[in-house]
Amino acid sequence: MNNQTAIPGSPDNPLDEIIGLSPAIRRVKSLIRQVASSDITVLITGESGTGKELVARGIHYLSGRKREPLVSLNCGAIPEGIFESEIFGHEKGSFTSADQRRQGYFEMADKGTLLLDEIGEMPLQVQVKILRVLETGRFLRVGGSREIEVDVRVIASTNKDLGSEVTYRRFREDLYYRLKAVNITVQPLRERPEDVIILAEHFIQEFVRKNKRPEPIIEIGALDILSRQYWAGNVRELKNFIESLIALSHGRAITTEIVRMHLGNDQGNPNLPVVVSRPTADLDQELIYRTLLELKHEMNSIKGLLQQLLLADQAEVGYQFSSAEDVEAYSLDELEKEQIKRALIDFEGNRRKAAKALGIGERTLYRKIRQYNIK
Ligand SMILES: Nc1ncnc2c1ncn2[C@@H]1O[C@H](COP(=O)(O)OP(=O)(O)OP(=O)(O)O)[C@@H](O)[C@H]1O
Ligand SMILES: [Mg+2]
Repeated sequence: MNNQTAIPGSPDNPLDEIIGLSPAIRRVKSLIRQVASSDITVLITGESGTGKELVARGIHYLSGRKREPLVSLNCGAIPEGIFESEIFGHEKGSFTSADQRRQGYFEMADKGTLLLDEIGEMPLQVQVKILRVLETGRFLRVGGSREIEVDVRVIASTNKDLGSEVTYRRFREDLYYRLKAVNITVQPLRERPEDVIILAEHFIQEFVRKNKRPEPIIEIGALDILSRQYWAGNVRELKNFIESLIALSHGRAITTEIVRMHLGNDQGNPNLPVVVSRPTADLDQELIYRTLLELKHEMNSIKGLLQQLLLADQAEVGYQFSSAEDVEAYSLDELEKEQIKRALIDFEGNRRKAAKALGIGERTLYRKIRQYNIK
């Protein structure tokens, strides 16, 4: 007799939740299988909506910890001032409003897995402490003097480029290297268009089953258009799109025409591989911006090398060299400021949307608006 109790949210085969047959998705699944059983820290990267959370679930539910809690903490949603006490807990009386001892997320996840979601948003002073827990498994509650020992497997995820966060000194280099030792990257949906059709069909069936509706037929041409879209919001955006399509189709076939109409804008040249739904001006800007970012990366690596050389020379001759870093940082700041201004204009001042489009957290955006004094 089977006397195991089902854990809510624990799927029979966690990898079945991740739909897709592209080489990129197969690679992700194979990596999950490889790392799941160990306690090694994993960094999951990828644009928003690519399925990073599913990857984290996959790792947890394939691991020996699957019957223990999977605790997820969205680092972007916690105010900086209470971050430390949220994550490590606090002792009674450690600050004015602390009238009770409180467990932090690390203790809640004991024996299980802690997902540090949007780790790029974690305040620097907390990053030091996280590194320490990763190394020793121990920490202090806020206001505490006794070390607490936990057995927690940490998974971190981010849609940011942590490497460039390190360059800007917004993310600690030591923690970055520690995290990126095992890195699973989920490709944007536009780079694996072969997954779009199977995902679309999956979401249609899922929606129909949940809402007890008849399953509509979807035309091949409609699927073809979907697989050529840019999908800036990746699988999440595709899922929402399918749901609204079905709601609008009233059980009738989903035709190419309906999909075109619902996408709502000029499809441009249907022979273009992807990104057909975006105006060319947008694309140009995006390309320019990407190129600039790539240049920035390269410049940063060169800068790093130069600095090492300078430091070595300095040590030898005992002379202080000055660096061009401040000048460069200035022009990069200008670039970033422009990007933010443009995003705010594009989204008519809606900071949530602007932050999303810029791939940064809302709190970071607020900080930058203040820093650059953007009106
Ligand atoms: N390969 C996939 N198969 C099935 N569903 C998927 C897949 N990828 C993503 N999804 C679905 O898309 C939505 C977004 O996925 P998820 O929350 O994992 O994204 P994310 O990468 O964590 O995004 P964010 O950075 O915004 O937090 C969820 O509803 C998820 O179930
Ligand atoms: Mg997520």
